[in-house]
Amino acid sequence: MKLLVTGSSGLIGSEVCVHFSRLGWRIHGVDNNQRAVFFGPQGDTRWNQHRLQRDLPAFVHHELDIRNRRGVLDLLAAVQPDAIVHTAAQPSHDRAAAIPFDDFDVNAVGTLNLLEATRHACPGSPFVHMSTNKVYGDRPNTIALRELDTRWDYDDPAYADGIGEEFPIDQSKHSLFGASKVAGDVMVQEYGRYFGMPTCCLRGGCLTGPNHSGVELHGFLSYLVKCNLEGREYKVFGYQGKQVRDNIHSHDVARFIAEFIKAPRVAEVYNIGGGRANSCSILEAFELVEKFSGRKQVWQYTDENRIGDHICYISDLAKMRRHYPGWDITVSLEETISQIVAAHAARLSVA
Ligand SMILES: NC(=O)c1ccc[n+]([C@@H]2O[C@H](COP(=O)([O-])OP(=O)(O)OC[C@H]3O[C@@H](n4cnc5c(N)ncnc54)[C@H](O)[C@@H]3O)[C@@H](O)[C@H]2O)c1
Repeated sequence: MKLLVTGSSGLIGSEVCVHFSRLGWRIHGVDNNQRAVFFGPQGDTRWNQHRLQRDLPAFVHHELDIRNRRGVLDLLAAVQPDAIVHTAAQPSHDRAAAIPFDDFDVNAVGTLNLLEATRHACPGSPFVHMSTNKVYGDRPNTIALRELDTRWDYDDPAYADGIGEEFPIDQSKHSLFGASKVAGDVMVQEYGRYFGMPTCCLRGGCLTGPNHSGVELHGFLSYLVKCNLEGREYKVFGYQGKQVRDNIHSHDVARFIAEFIKAPRVAEVYNIGGGRANSCSILEAFELVEKFSGRKQVWQYTDENRIGDHICYISDLAKMRRHYPGWDITVSLEETISQIVAAHAARLSVA
């Protein structure tokens, strides 16, 4: 079986490559290290590409920009993959406003290029798209909240288990990133509904793990750990540092993708995050990282929050569990943080 993974040098893409390689699949990775263009040298993902080329026996790297329509059509026609996992993206909320054309061309048009190429080459192959919870814009901030000692929490029993897939996606502030991801998300659903293709959108909360090239503008826990270990100041933007994120290890994302590909459905949407059990505020994250690194976090507070930033976001995982009872979260938040600390410490000792 052949898998085509876009964004293969990134956090989720690389985890998917490793997971499917262990399952015996041949992997075609597509990445052009655009993350280094978006975020500078700290975002460089070549080290991860080289790791895959070194460690995976049946991995082929394709240096291709998903904006290159002809290149994408030709690659899909040549490879004829049995499944496609699309993780390549401009992934930052805040970066998008400075590069609106790049953001939209990658997130929306790049996704369309891949969908159309799939429809021509292999319309029956499952197509999994990494979407984001930013498609809900800042509307989650309208849910009633209560302030606890170290975090915000929902003060509405309807959201006790988090936010489900029925939550409205429009008439709220998304950031240009959120808007370009909405375009991709709706297009992926449409190729399912209109053409009957087995597509799925995974609306991610905080996706994390030891193989993220974390930068200030993307990769919350990875960047926080980097700051902690290097003694750099971490900037907290508003909400008293009590803003809540639900964190899922990239391994559990890859496991869900494998479940979907094994038993695909048409035009599905899932909110994928760590759920309540793996949620934490920034203040709580500081404490957890300190516990594993043994170093005090240096941080500074700015009153102004990031535009459209969620105050409290927890994914309701009920639909994923109902559709795929063989799947659940297997990596706890503590274990995830300890892995990120260990990986960064190892990279620092080599540098
Ligand atoms: N990490 C998170 O917290 C998070 C949360 C919600 C949604 N998501 C979504 O999940 C997906 C994967 O996120 P990630 O954290 O693994 O991102 P990442 O930046 O680590 O990986 C993305 C990879 O795509 C590559 N890429 C970007 N533009 C490209 C292009 N035009 N052509 C070819 N390759 C290109 C980059 O070089 C990078 O290696 C993205 O769609 C992102 O929006 C991530």
